[in-house]
Amino acid sequence: MKPNRVDHIGIAVNNLDDAIKFYEALGLKCTNIEVVEEQKVKVAFFPCGDADLELLESTTPDGPVAKYIAGNGGKGGIQHIALNVTDIKEAIAYMKDKGLRMIDEEPRYGAGNSSIAFVHPKSTGGVLIELAQRL
Ligand code: CO
Repeated sequence: MKPNRVDHIGIAVNNLDDAIKFYEALGLKCTNIEVVEEQKVKVAFFPCGDADLELLESTTPDGPVAKYIAGNGGKGGIQHIALNVTDIKEAIAYMKDKGLRMIDEEPRYGAGNSSIAFVHPKSTGGVLIELAQRL
């Protein structure tokens, strides 16, 4: 398993509409807005070169993005980095074989029509890393 590239950078935001205005003002274009119920987020994608910016607004006060913002003093920020992989199942098996702890031991749906799995921050030095296979 070798990641192909940075797939996207996940950015937690307090207000998606305000954040979209900012990134549009930078000259980027939003290509997809989607709610992922399972992760309790509303997501907006902004392609930027080889990687996307993934803006994440929590849809509930108890979702992972809401918890990230609470732990960050109420401010948004970079919540995760996603690495693009060719085969998510193979990538998960590889990580487990290396003794790395996965949050997701089975792939699940990710925004932008992808199959994803999160690596546990205990195994990454504190960074939340997502493995993402675009479908
Ligand atoms: Co992501």
